[in-house]
Amino acid sequence: MKDGVKDIGFSVPYDIAVARTLRPTTREEREAALAEACYNTELIPQELVYVDLQTDSAVSAPSTSQVAALIEGGRPEAGLEMTAARRFQEIFGFPFVLPCMQGRAAERIWTKINVREGTVVPGNMLFPSTRYHIESNRAKVIDVISEKAYDLFSDDPFKADLDLAKLERVVREHGPEKVSCIYVELAVNSCGGHPVSLANLREVRAFAQARKIPVFLDACRILENSYLIQQREPGWQRRSIREIVGEICSLADGLTMSALKDLLVPIGGFIGMRDEKSYQKASFQQLLDGGQPPAGALVGLALSLEEIFSSATFVQSRVEQVNDLWRKLAGKVPVLRPAAGHGVFIDARSFLPAIPPERHPAEALAAFIYAFSGVRATKGPPLTKNQIERGIELLRLAVPARKYLEGHMDDVAEAVLYAYSHRGEIRGLARVEKPERSKYDPPVFAPAES
Ligand code: F0G
Repeated sequence: MKDGVKDIGFSVPYDIAVARTLRPTTREEREAALAEACYNTELIPQELVYVDLQTDSAVSAPSTSQVAALIEGGRPEAGLEMTAARRFQEIFGFPFVLPCMQGRAAERIWTKINVREGTVVPGNMLFPSTRYHIESNRAKVIDVISEKAYDLFSDDPFKADLDLAKLERVVREHGPEKVSCIYVELAVNSCGGHPVSLANLREVRAFAQARKIPVFLDACRILENSYLIQQREPGWQRRSIREIVGEICSLADGLTMSALKDLLVPIGGFIGMRDEKSYQKASFQQLLDGGQPPAGALVGLALSLEEIFSSATFVQSRVEQVNDLWRKLAGKVPVLRPAAGHGVFIDARSFLPAIPPERHPAEALAAFIYAFSGVRATKGPPLTKNQIERGIELLRLAVPARKYLEGHMDDVAEAVLYAYSHRGEIRGLARVEKPERSKYDPPVFAPAES
């Protein structure tokens, strides 16, 4: 290569080895499917969906080496199961690592060990499973996310930062001994995938350390958060994703992580810990729960960690695909600003101002988009109390990593733009109560009369 000539290429660090054929559906079929699914797009059968943006969890394409490992029965190489924990340890920097079945399994164990009855846990709009596990130990979650998280259209680069003044107030009110831990979610799902800055994490860490309060991470989208730090936070542009991941983890006393998103596997998660006693307790609890991941899952995790962290561009290509979709929509339809990590979030209230909250504008929009395009979007994580009180209503277009091509994203953008230009045709939905359904089942609807 001549001096001064830059290498070009490898911006997408994989190609397609096995493809799944998508059968085109007709509008009539989709309308019938919607009626059958009681207008909840979550309930549409997979084979009737074209581009599925319901979640970025457990739906990424496996790599050829992961498939080979599955065919080999999870034992392509002696001891590769042990490698998952060791690789995680090396990259994330926690001396003790317990692989788990998924994120919520890790949270269940970790909160059981660390969250005491009658205490509080400040957090930044934590995911419902994290909140639930904290509360099931009879502690209270208190949201201390910054006010920026509720401002849907400002361009603040780190809207998921914790508000130190709010945090201080909570700790002063309850006393540090009544704070079990501070839980920090990265690339916060409920507020649009916005990241937390390293500067903020450092402040939280210093605050917590001075009061002997542990800081734990929900790190399931640590890669997106790290990429956005690299792009946006002064001083980090020349640092690798791996270095940023290491830096984030160095500011925490523990971590729970679902591997179903960033690590592209269908089963798996981790608890990262700093002391052996916690490790012993966590392993024992996992044994009691019957929650050990099978050998094949551990092999998948080991291979995935290797593949992701040996590529200089994997994370970039993943987040830039999401950002490309965002750019196709921003300025044309009300999407949350700025672009974030794992999905594009639509402000359903601004999209459909004539449909009141009790007529479910987000679900109505999702049903409309599905009916004419086959693209599936769903609401995403249930909103927090503070979001509901502020009248926030979001529709999430979650983009699975390593799954879709630019053509898919073009079709998604076209579908959303079409829905916007025909928004006057969208009718609200009325919730139908069915006593035989659990309150945790997805809700069902009927077209609203008015
Ligand atoms: N934490 C966050 C921030 C999540 O988004 C999820 C799952 C979990 C924890 C739980 O992990 O599913 O492995 O048990 N989020 C999925 C989603 C379901 O679609 O956003 P899990």
